[in-house]
Amino acid sequence: MTGPGDDRETRLPEVADATADGPLAVLVARDRAEVAIASLRAEGVYDDDRRVKPVPDGLVALPVTGPPSETGVRRVVRQTDPEPRAPDLATLLRERGWDDEAVERAPSSWAVVGTVVLVSLTDLDESEEVAVGEALLELHGEADTVCAREGVDGELREPDVRVVAGIGDTETIHVEHGTRYALDLSQVMFSPGNQRERVHMGEVTDESERVLDMFAGIGYFALPMARAGATVTAVEKNPDAFRYLGENAVNNAVLDRMELVLGDCRDVEATADRVVMGYYDAVDPAPGGDAEGDDPAAAGRSYLDAAFDAVVSGGTLHVHATEPADDPWRRPVARLEAVADDHGRDVTVLDRREVKSHSEGVVHVVVDARVD
Ligand SMILES: C[S@@+](CC[C@H](N)C(=O)[O-])C[C@H]1O[C@@H](n2cnc3c(N)ncnc32)[C@H](O)[C@@H]1O
Repeated sequence: MTGPGDDRETRLPEVADATADGPLAVLVARDRAEVAIASLRAEGVYDDDRRVKPVPDGLVALPVTGPPSETGVRRVVRQTDPEPRAPDLATLLRERGWDDEAVERAPSSWAVVGTVVLVSLTDLDESEEVAVGEALLELHGEADTVCAREGVDGELREPDVRVVAGIGDTETIHVEHGTRYALDLSQVMFSPGNQRERVHMGEVTDESERVLDMFAGIGYFALPMARAGATVTAVEKNPDAFRYLGENAVNNAVLDRMELVLGDCRDVEATADRVVMGYYDAVDPAPGGDAEGDDPAAAGRSYLDAAFDAVVSGGTLHVHATEPADDPWRRPVARLEAVADDHGRDVTVLDRREVKSHSEGVVHVVVDARVD
């Protein structure tokens, strides 16, 4: 299992210096660490008790309990300076002299996206943020940059991030269930909390389907669906995200079954068995038009209008939304039924999923609907 272009990673390499003492480790390129760790875990040889250690030439040493038989690595070596894995962030911060009150203000969750740690930081001063960042790099030897997330803005969902530790390289490749996502986390958003939904989209489709992804981004859903064999039309309005969408279609060897469109999804003519609307505003009425009591004739074309024009009879819509946690389904379902009515069609709700908590009292949900 080697990444594209990593032809120097070989299987079954000899144990360098087999006579030396010390536990084993494998050397891989830093930007392959995330993949290799997942593969070594799958093989059952990854040693969670020791730290990942950076070594010269952009490599890292991953601790293993034995030589891997499946995972591609540069070399298997004996570690002369093994270090126990840092137990957790709080312990590392306490080692830095933090008291209980300060540790309380440290983040309790973060995400490793390729070689970048994404974390939300609040109530910390600058020096504390740097300390947390450095501790997170110690916890995640495969990472080289820590970014504070400060929200996603505007129609094109541009992220607001700040480098707080490391080399400040926000461009990376994140691998999730075999799908490779190249992205620059300072230019395009990435939502770790949508992982299950990304994987799910790859599981619900196959080579018999034509898929329209109306809000494709870098290919969050489109790539797993194309890897599952579907023919995918992926539309994206943000030029930066679109550039990565193209690069990722090549990197995942699925460009041959993808049509990439830079533009507004409401202007795209398509015929699809399955339409993905991964956008929180997907069910919103068109500006100045088909809200309750508005004159539809004056309406702009809503995202749902475009979806209904594209989906074939018997096809499926996957509609995302952010809704009150105590009443998450009423509005998206009502909007679906209202627009179906406008189009003289019927909708049947097939599934409703809560993807993640969005904010206080608000959840990110998806409604799957069959359209006839
Ligand atoms: C929220 S992101 C996609 C998030 C993704 N569904 C996920 O799960 O992580 C939505 C994307 O839609 C794009 N977008 C917004 N309005 C659009 C439009 N009218 N047509 C095409 N793309 C659009 C944005 O630029 C952004 O990249």
